[in-house]
Amino acid sequence: MRTQVLLGLLWIGACSQASAADSAAVADLAKASGCFSCHSAKEKIVGPAFSSIAEKYAGEKDAVSTLTQSIQRGSQGKWGRIAMPAHASLSNDELKSLATWVMSNKP
Ligand code: HEC
Repeated sequence: MRTQVLLGLLWIGACSQASAADSAAVADLAKASGCFSCHSAKEKIVGPAFSSIAEKYAGEKDAVSTLTQSIQRGSQGKWGRIAMPAHASLSNDELKSLATWVMSNKP
């Protein structure tokens, strides 16, 4: 019985690409990349709250790839007058996990 539950959890984790352990690692990556100097989980700082971003793109199936590009190349004009600079030094994997993690923020 317990093994089944565990396997089930592993399965969910592998499918959603955002198990609890992963999301802690990505949060560390976001910290190390300076994301939190302009963003926070729930409040607008310089950039929009991660929960607002997740809410805005909730219904879009291409959300992760849109956000991946925004983080990599920078973004302007979508949220206000202030632009986000490009983050060219992050790898594709890092960008994708950051975008997936942003989408996992709940309001
Ligand atoms: C210098 C400040 C700054 C930093 C550092 C920063 N952002 Fe942003 N971010 C912004 C601003 C401002 C916007 C809104 C841009 C716009 O209006 O298009 C934004 C928008 C976004 C969006 C939404 C893009 C869209 O297409 O709607 C995501 C996702 C995001 N940031 C993630 C990140 C991540 C992840 C990091 C760290 C790697 C990061 N940001 C670092 C300022 C910043």
